[in-house]
Amino acid sequence: MKVYVVTGGAGFIGSAVVRTLLAQGAGTVRVVDNFLTGRESNLSDIRSRVELDQSDIRDYNALAAAIRGADIVFHLAAIPSVPRSIQDPAPSHQVNIDGTFNVLRASVEAKVERVVYAASSSAYGDTEVLPKVESMPPRPQSPYAVQKLAGEYYSSVFHSCFGLETVALRFFNVYGERQDPSSPYSGVLSLFFKALIERRSPTIFGDGEQTRDFTYVEDVAALCWKAASAPGVAGKMYNAGNGHRYSLNSVWDLLQKIEGVSLRPQYGPSRVGDVRDSQADTTAARRDLGHAPQYTLEQGLRRTLAWYKSCST
Ligand code: UD1
Repeated sequence: MKVYVVTGGAGFIGSAVVRTLLAQGAGTVRVVDNFLTGRESNLSDIRSRVELDQSDIRDYNALAAAIRGADIVFHLAAIPSVPRSIQDPAPSHQVNIDGTFNVLRASVEAKVERVVYAASSSAYGDTEVLPKVESMPPRPQSPYAVQKLAGEYYSSVFHSCFGLETVALRFFNVYGERQDPSSPYSGVLSLFFKALIERRSPTIFGDGEQTRDFTYVEDVAALCWKAASAPGVAGKMYNAGNGHRYSLNSVWDLLQKIEGVSLRPQYGPSRVGDVRDSQADTTAARRDLGHAPQYTLEQGLRRTLAWYKSCST
């Protein structure tokens, strides 16, 4: 039986990866999380089935001890958010770049079979052509995008220079159960769900016609699982998206329709560093990782809304 380590495993996406591993019958699952943004409550239903190590990925010795004995590492620990990386760039630099370097270095030392790295669609920046294909040159527009891109480059170089198998997945605006809506840096859909349930107007930055490839967390977790064992993909990077794009206005309209309410959004100034449009080309992930997203936006929204409602009662 293999030993799996999930950094950031108490986070929104990390805990979904942990659940997928358990559903696949994984032997040992070790969560490494410093609870900066992760929460033990994200693991409450599966707490007895996972090992929990509260190490910080910035602390090399603690991290190396946590990774020792692992076969596969899913590296999801990060300080996310484009605006947060602009407001306060040093912590996200240290976690997202130095922390990723530590994870890769510790994985070489521990002779890990493969590291699956959570990269970001933000690396593309604004492109002239949509959908965004892996072969496009990156154009990072924020410290966060640079940091996540640096992690990709490090992953690739750890493969070519040190023989560590790595696969980088560029996550496209992931949403779903357990996404925390309590911070101003929270993902937009978590804020939309909260506003909808509280019957408040959401705030939209800009005209709301910017588009995103909103991707349901279960699809991303399934892709991570496939990336851990697919043959012939070491050192490579793939899009982890749904393959469609929706404007913020259209998603808010759909949510109002689902809930049968009418709440006009408030509009504010556009965010610095914001990308205008985002949509993944999913061809390579389908071909090489055997992945086809299972959830339409409406299905994902309905499932997620039901979950937020179950928490608010
Ligand atoms: C970016 C990345 C995404 C990554 C995420 C991590 C892109 C295209 N996507 O997401 O892959 O996982 O960082 O944090 O770069 N907005 C509002 N109102 C709000 C909050 C946000 O209108 O209350 C707007 C933003 O200005 C933006 C959109 O919603 O246009 C999405 O914002 P957000 O959810 O923060 O994610 P991105 O920055 O797109």
